[in-house]
Amino acid sequence: MPNQEPKKSYEFFAPKVFIRTFGCQMNVRDSEVICGILVNAGYKICASDREADIIIVNTCSVRQHAEDRVWSLIGSYKGSKIIGLVGCMAQNYKERVFQRDVNVSFVVGPQDIYKIPEILNKFTSKGFFERKVWEVDSPDRPEEIYHTGFFQDKDHAYVVISEGCSNFCSYCVVPYVRGPLRHRKNINILREIREAVARGITRVTLLGQNVNAYYDNSINFTKLLRQVNALEGLKEFTFFTSHPKDANIEFFQAICDLNKLNKSLHLPLQSGVDRILNLMNRGYSVKKYLALIDSYRKIVKGGLLTTDIIVGFPSETDKEFKQTCDLIKKVRFNAAYIFKYSPRPNTEAARLTDLLTKKEKEKRHKKILDLQREISNKLRIKHADAKA
Ligand code: SAH
Ligand code: SF4
Ligand code: F3S
Repeated sequence: MPNQEPKKSYEFFAPKVFIRTFGCQMNVRDSEVICGILVNAGYKICASDREADIIIVNTCSVRQHAEDRVWSLIGSYKGSKIIGLVGCMAQNYKERVFQRDVNVSFVVGPQDIYKIPEILNKFTSKGFFERKVWEVDSPDRPEEIYHTGFFQDKDHAYVVISEGCSNFCSYCVVPYVRGPLRHRKNINILREIREAVARGITRVTLLGQNVNAYYDNSINFTKLLRQVNALEGLKEFTFFTSHPKDANIEFFQAICDLNKLNKSLHLPLQSGVDRILNLMNRGYSVKKYLALIDSYRKIVKGGLLTTDIIVGFPSETDKEFKQTCDLIKKVRFNAAYIFKYSPRPNTEAARLTDLLTKKEKEKRHKKILDLQREISNKLRIKHADAKA
């Protein structure tokens, strides 16, 4: 539950807003940011779409399936409510949202979420009504939006350390919808965590599409981890997501050394075959990945390791798929998120010929899921035995 109440003087008249969130943790944090700035502007956040005057859907474009869920949800809303489509799909579709669904009242991309109170004021005062795209392309978010003190959980906070991504993995829509990588200022990140701790937060997750590329003046990601570890009142923290091409021994050493940092690493592999990794523009080979996790496991003894895998990337042969399965057996991840390749607009991979049938992708998906489930279960039992 939100731990900040609307300002009392507004409470009686306050229009009620319901926010539904799809996608990654970055979107979860963005929805908190939207709640925080709306509460400060006199709106009330409510817990169900039925009681809301305004519904905001914070969306994800990473795979087709994520978008399909949003279209079907919005299609189910009828009547007099104001409906806003915000986040990554807003940036992806812009004014085409209105062609697709006449129920949507406004569209706001991820970089422009700070404009939402101003937009809603127009809708709610003097019967203003104009369907409009209020996207996109603001270069930077104003720093204040991260300091409203609104957190979904009582004792845990997500803290954005960098926005956007400039890696352009060939399958991925994120750089197109979130813009280039931008690092938040080191002092602002630390200030936000101190403020959270003052509100009773004890656990923090540092967020970015590629956290270990973080840089602000002389502060790199490892230094940031050391600074966060030193913050008084903070009990535990973690981070999400790291990229293998920016991982090194210094970084693993910090995971080992820092007493408040969780001993776990999510290091997306994506494929166990160099030819596919190249086509994906990932910037590392299987050999480099294996060397990295070998150092991680030597340095962070007992540290957990999780990953992401995409099956059915264009031109992936059955033999190559089996090589990825063999690698999964060899590495033994504690958990792996397995995704079926989904072609995304504008991306390089969408231009590659994709001859694999849906059925074949599903078959590969199921096979690798079953394989990983077995490994995860065995490791969980081993882990539990070790603790007992
Ligand atoms: N920035 C993070 C997370 C990106 S999205 C990272 O680089 O790890 C999370 C995961 O979704 C990716 O790791 C990838 O495995 C998957 N993914 C991204 N685009 C996809 C696509 N077009 N089809 C299928 N899976 C995709
Ligand atoms: Fe997408 Fe690659 Fe950036 Fe992750 S690192 S968000 S997969 S482009
Ligand atoms: Fe989805 Fe956007 Fe996150 S595309 S995965 S919500 S950055």
